Amino acid sequence: MDYFEYRDGALWAEDKRVTDLMETFGTPLYVYSAKTLRRHYNAFDEALGGLSHLACFSVKANSNISLLRLLGRLGAGVDIVSGGELHRALTAGIDPGKIVFSGVGKQAHEIREALAAGILMFNVESVQELEHIGRIAAALKTQARISIRINPDVDPETHPYISTGLKKNKFGLDMRDAADAYLLARDHPAIDPVGMDCHIGSQLTRIGPFVEALEKLLAFADRLARSGVGIRYLDLGGGLGITYNEEAPPLPADLGRAIAGALAERDLTVILEPGRAIAGNAGILVTRVLYTKKTRAKNFVIVDAAMNDLVRPSLYGAYHRIGEVVPGGRESMMVDVVGPICESSDFLAQDRMLPAMEPGEGLAVFSAGAYGFTMSSQYNSRPRAAEVIVDGERVTLARRRETYQDLVALEM
Ligand code: LLP
Repeated sequence: MDYFEYRDGALWAEDKRVTDLMETFGTPLYVYSAKTLRRHYNAFDEALGGLSHLACFSVKANSNISLLRLLGRLGAGVDIVSGGELHRALTAGIDPGKIVFSGVGKQAHEIREALAAGILMFNVESVQELEHIGRIAAALKTQARISIRINPDVDPETHPYISTGLKKNKFGLDMRDAADAYLLARDHPAIDPVGMDCHIGSQLTRIGPFVEALEKLLAFADRLARSGVGIRYLDLGGGLGITYNEEAPPLPADLGRAIAGALAERDLTVILEPGRAIAGNAGILVTRVLYTKKTRAKNFVIVDAAMNDLVRPSLYGAYHRIGEVVPGGRESMMVDVVGPICESSDFLAQDRMLPAMEPGEGLAVFSAGAYGFTMSSQYNSRPRAAEVIVDGERVTLARRRETYQDLVALEM
């Protein structure tokens, strides 16, 4: 459910006409809906309402500091994977006590920065990393709160590039190795093993894999407790899917209900790390048609957004719904929507039925709020798009459009 809708013959972002945004800010333009973000965050918060809980927005999905500030004000924590994301979170005023730090390759300076900030915990992915964190914390005469990321070997039934909880993936430790790691952590003076986590994949459209992972983790936590390791936080990661096309993923409330039973009698704070489910449908990418081109094989709609702005279609073959900014009631035809980049993989949609478009008209690429701007680049020396947040009738420029000067600013 989001607040982008067609009424009075045009597409609106909340109470703002998208054509007005195109006029003011130009294209390509990322438009986020504050009301949608709040609704989605609150859905997670309420879904876990009966449990001691923390919803940590996954910054990699959308790291704009205005958006992070909005979520932080609602009480959100964040899941980070780099010193850069830590810097963004702190800049946005996120409570460090609500930050979890994931990722297989944490560097010494990032570990020091996170310890200095006083984050809630490191989600540790290997024994070497655990020892590294221990050494740094000892040198700083502090203790690092850690959780060990378990690879529960659960099939998330999603795209192979975004499944992470299978034995063959690089993430986490299997339970046998994790058991040794916990004992090492238990006996390390500079480490406090407070949690256990997993993240099995992204864009999951079924509840089953979450429940399977939870049950495996709880059984493991019970075994650990007998070895004198008592954890307080159980972090199930992110991964809840959204509707891009026809998918009917479970709602946060369904997930909450499914895990509440198993967690009821336990003295654990449950953490979730949703990214896509909060931001995905809270954002659209608005683009303008440059040309249309009919070849003997295909009809192309050439737009001013490209794979450097939104790489998901090129990278994963991902489907994003595309619609006119001002519906014209024209007949539809089969087209490829492509950008100006010099690669055949530069497309936003292939073989899509769309009304015949004219140069200058706007198109909205839906469900672009997560892994859209954050995965964007300057490929082909294209300055990155601007980002705006609409809240009712109010519009805030959350990131200005890059300029040619920005393109060369760091080069000598
Ligand atoms: N926690 C961890 C440890 C993660 O690795 C991820 C995502 C999340 C949370 C958030 O997952 P979400 O709730 O957003 O599914 N670029 C890909 C998605 C990669 C996801 C990587 N990890 C895409 O555009 O589909």
